[in-house]
Amino acid sequence: MTPVDLDTDSWGTPDVILTAVRDVLGTIDLDPMSNDMAQRRVRAGRHYTKADNGLIQPWCGKVFANPPYGRGQMSPFVGKLLSEVGAAGDVSAAIALVNASTSTKWFQTMLKHAASICLLSRRLGHHHPTTDALTKGNRYDQAVFLYTDDPGELDTFCVVFGRLGSVLLCGQPSGSVFDRWRARRH
Ligand SMILES: C[S@@+](CC[C@H](N)C(=O)[O-])C[C@H]1O[C@@H](n2cnc3c(N)ncnc32)[C@H](O)[C@@H]1O
Repeated sequence: MTPVDLDTDSWGTPDVILTAVRDVLGTIDLDPMSNDMAQRRVRAGRHYTKADNGLIQPWCGKVFANPPYGRGQMSPFVGKLLSEVGAAGDVSAAIALVNASTSTKWFQTMLKHAASICLLSRRLGHHHPTTDALTKGNRYDQAVFLYTDDPGELDTFCVVFGRLGSVLLCGQPSGSVFDRWRARRH
């Protein structure tokens, strides 16, 4: 195991989110922004660390990401995520946990391309980068974005993440995933 990055960007996702992510995606094929300790819980088929630089690696399959939130780090992550979930990418679905910084450019860009967002109703504790202890609370509100073209995943996201906060549909209401999602529900 390589040493965990001892920085404030290395806090681990709590199980309440990881369980919900697995319920929606079935499996996590890739965690592109990670560390070896976090993988004990995330259990992705593949993960990239800071040393690998997940931003320049290939992404594919079902992706879960909880990226580093530090200054200047969100925009490159969002650029990579959106290029991978788009038509030219190999990512079939992605869920990303981020701070609910609604007025930032990167957040608005994520919103424009997402299928859905969950505004979490409680502040999440995260796992400490070195002790792995689950902290109580958080200085920030957080949100979970879904990128998918699969109406079944959208449906499940609404149900599963609806237990954790308010789920809203994003993007183009006349887009194909929404049409197929509506057809599925009616
Ligand atoms: C908020 S933590 C989340 C860890 C884990 N993915 C999880 O959900 O528990 C973000 C992780 O991204 C790693 N990281 C930072 N820059 C990275 C990069 N360019 N490529 C891959 N990982 C990176 C950090 O070291 C840290 O472990």
